[in-house]
Amino acid sequence: MRRKLVAGNWKMHMTATEAVATVECFIKEIGSKDSADMVICPTFLSIPKVRELTKSTKIEIGAQDVFWMPKGAFTGQISAGMLRAAGCSYCIVGHSETRGRFGKLEIPAETVCHFGETDHTVNLKIGALLEHGIRPILCVGETQAERDASMTDAIITTQLEKALHSLDPTELDALVIAYEPVWAIGTGKVCDSLEAERVCGLVRSILEDLVGEGLARTCRVLYGGSVKASNAKELFSQPNIDGGLVGGASLDPKEFAAIVSSA
Ligand code: 13P
Repeated sequence: MRRKLVAGNWKMHMTATEAVATVECFIKEIGSKDSADMVICPTFLSIPKVRELTKSTKIEIGAQDVFWMPKGAFTGQISAGMLRAAGCSYCIVGHSETRGRFGKLEIPAETVCHFGETDHTVNLKIGALLEHGIRPILCVGETQAERDASMTDAIITTQLEKALHSLDPTELDALVIAYEPVWAIGTGKVCDSLEAERVCGLVRSILEDLVGEGLARTCRVLYGGSVKASNAKELFSQPNIDGGLVGGASLDPKEFAAIVSSA
C-alpha cells in the first residue's frame, strides 16, 4: 500500500519572514492529522527557518532544485550535500519551469532560455540526490502543443528513460514521480482526473519496463497542475495517483491543509 504524499512547491514566493508566518498557520491548521506525508519546498533562503519550525512535526522539507557537483567553483549553485545538511529530505528535479517549458505564452524568450535544464542534467541531479539520501521528486509532463499533436505518451516515455538512464534500480526506492502537464500549471485548467489517472498509470508501466515490477508498484506517482482543495479529492482517489505536487494553492495554509486532508 503506497502512502499518499502531498508536496507544496512554493516556487519564487515568500521571504523567510512570510514563510515562517505561513508555516505556523499551516501547522495549526493541520493539527495532529496524519492522513498523508507532507512536504514543503520553500526557496533555498527559507529552508533553515522552515526546517526549524517543522522539526518536531511530521512535515518534511524539500528543495526546488539542486546542482549535481559536490562542491567547487560553481557560483550560485547549491549541492545535494548542502541540502541534506540543511535538513532537506526531498528535492524537486526537472520541473517544467527549470526546463524552461512554461505553460503561459507571455513569458519572454530570454526567460525561457535562461534555465538550460536538459534530460541529461535531470539525470545527473537525481544521481547526486540519491547519493545523499534525498528523495528526488522527478517532474515529467507535456506542453499543450505536444498534447495537441498526440505526443503526450512519447514525451513522458522519453523524459523518464533519459532521467533514469544508467541509475541503479536498487537505489531508486526513494524516487517520487510527479506528472505535471505544463498546460495545467498555474492556469486553473486542471487535467481531467481520468486522464491524469491514465498518464500516472502509464508512468507506472514505463517504470516497470525501465526498473522492474517491484519498484513500479511501490513508487509514488503524484499529479501536479492547478490542484486545489475543490479538485484534490477526486484526483487523489484515482488508483494510480498517490498525491499531489501543489503550486499556487500551497501558498495559502488553509487551502493547503484542506488539500492534505483530502489525501
Ligand atoms: P500550480 O498548482 O500553481 O498549478 O503549480 C503546479 C506546479 O508547478 C507544482 O510544481
